Amino acid sequence: MKIISTVSDLSLFLNANSKSRNLGFVPTMGALHLGHLSLIQKALEQNDLVLCSIFVNPTQFNNSEDLEQYPDRIQEDLKALEEAGCHAVFTPIESEIYPKDYVSKQYDFGLLDKVMEGENRPGHFEGVAAVVSRLFELVKPQKAYFGEKDFQQLTIIKSLVQQERLNLEIVACPILRESDGLAMSSRNLLLQPKAREAAARIYKRLLRVKRLASNQPIPEVKKWITQAFDEDPDLTLEYFEIVNTADLQRSASWSDHKDHIACIACYADAIRLIDNLFIEIN
Ligand code: PAF
Repeated sequence: MKIISTVSDLSLFLNANSKSRNLGFVPTMGALHLGHLSLIQKALEQNDLVLCSIFVNPTQFNNSEDLEQYPDRIQEDLKALEEAGCHAVFTPIESEIYPKDYVSKQYDFGLLDKVMEGENRPGHFEGVAAVVSRLFELVKPQKAYFGEKDFQQLTIIKSLVQQERLNLEIVACPILRESDGLAMSSRNLLLQPKAREAAARIYKRLLRVKRLASNQPIPEVKKWITQAFDEDPDLTLEYFEIVNTADLQRSASWSDHKDHIACIACYADAIRLIDNLFIEIN
């Protein structure tokens, strides 16, 4: 596996491999888990060449403590990528991504970034859009792979691709879960045992929401989940929303449309976790 750390080496690598184009790209912030490796696997199935990037993008962290504690496991990550069969990894330092005088592009995501993560993490999606558009500009992939755990991010990146009119397919990959249901996340590494045990309740509550959808109106479901978190000493709810999968706007009732997604953000100790579950109404 080729390890590339500068923009100029990246362009040499891409030029040298321009014949084997179909290039699949998996952007990450490292601390790779099986969820990331499933994106690599999918990319390997669909492309001749697969490039992963590992870059902890400071501009998408609205909280400096969160950035400082973000796990760094570069050696383990490189080993995992190599074993997975990834062809190349781009591990730039910040000045390669944001050189002096580089001006990040601005996007208008309408209402997509005004809710949930956007509402609770000011500036987060600006940072995500800045780094993703820069990476797309450098790598110029035919396909790029993102996990559905960050469903709002995925929706926003699809909008970015449309706004930029990029000839690029965004491939959405399903959430991978631990055996107790916790969505795989790099942040899970930071959970102390009690918080880790509590974190498994997030998915269990989402499953209950899905069951309640058959006989309870949305406001009742929201009341139930708020109370479940209020009574849970180990998990603090930041938001719970049921939104339309297309425009991420709140669903007032189940009959509003067919495809809803229940999205949650909460804290287990000081670790912020997000998860979601699709709810299809027949
Ligand atoms: O989902 C992530 O890991 C990051 O937000 C991304 C897309 C790699 C941008 O930094």
